[in-house]
Amino acid sequence: MKKEILSVLREAGSYVSGQELCEMLQVSRTAVWKVISQLKEEGYEIEAVKNRGYRIVSSPDIMTEEEIGSRLHTAEMGQSCVCFEETDSTNTRAKQLAEEGMPHGTLVCAERQTMGKGRRGKGWSSPQGEAIYMSVLLRPRMLPAHASMLTLVMGLAAAQACNEILEEALGEKAPAVQIKWPNDLVLKGQKIAGILTELSAEVDYINHIVVGIGINVNTEQFPEEIARTAASLYQTAGRKFSRAELTARCMERLEACYQVFLQTEDLRALQGDYEKLLVNKGKTVRVLEPGHEYIGTALGINDKGELLIRREDGSVTAVYAGEVSVRGVYGYV
Ligand code: BTN
Repeated sequence: MKKEILSVLREAGSYVSGQELCEMLQVSRTAVWKVISQLKEEGYEIEAVKNRGYRIVSSPDIMTEEEIGSRLHTAEMGQSCVCFEETDSTNTRAKQLAEEGMPHGTLVCAERQTMGKGRRGKGWSSPQGEAIYMSVLLRPRMLPAHASMLTLVMGLAAAQACNEILEEALGEKAPAVQIKWPNDLVLKGQKIAGILTELSAEVDYINHIVVGIGINVNTEQFPEEIARTAASLYQTAGRKFSRAELTARCMERLEACYQVFLQTEDLRALQGDYEKLLVNKGKTVRVLEPGHEYIGTALGINDKGELLIRREDGSVTAVYAGEVSVRGVYGYV
């Protein structure tokens, strides 16, 4: 009932009487009062005024099912939600929950990861309470070969969600979060998020896909090894954000982008929006293939999500995310 009370108070934006809450939720006044007391203990500031009712004043920055769920306006994404105070990796948990039969759209979050996974076997630094660590379980009926496009779908959705909250906080002067193809989000040239997509499939059948993303939201300081390339929304915007709110916005954008993606099972309808945010576009990049590298200009993506590179001889090559790494010539971007 916590989630429902929080939803009603949030939607109302002002006082809601105890009587109204009882009628809406079909419970007693004492039950409402008990839940309000529990919420206060968890750090919610809820004002209670005689003859007017309850009003939510502020919420703690916590990643709980109630805090995320009460901000969510989706049909599928995040409607089933599992939050951990601590876990090894939300991707690992999501894969396990997939095996146990959890539905498409299940969201798995954690306040802290003890074995956060990055790409290519690297780790992902996951300290307590300052960033988003989340994974979404998807069960699309499509060919396994199409699965890697979902990394781009998540990248676009998360970048749009970050830009929404940055614009609301800073107005038009807000710097834009951009996408560094295919897995990273960057802000002012520094990495603020990374995506790790894992697939469980047979040759022609997807069992499930887990798309995990770590977003540096309120991080004040990074470990020395990554301090030069990593940044957080807080460091750039100069203010902190509700991680649950950003998570809910990511789910809303993901639901919208995923619907568009499913219509054609490729990225043709998302290509325009993607390229608007593509930091590599028009840049000179170094393409690293196993045992071979070359320089070219990144032009954009094709409908399969491959990056189009104009090579020095004028020919255009489409590079596939799994096979290459793309770097800026003068740095990370
Ligand atoms: C990368 O840039 O290397 C990808 C990093 C992906 C990190 C996220 S955090 C949530 C999810 N759980 C994990 O163990 N990894 C992903």
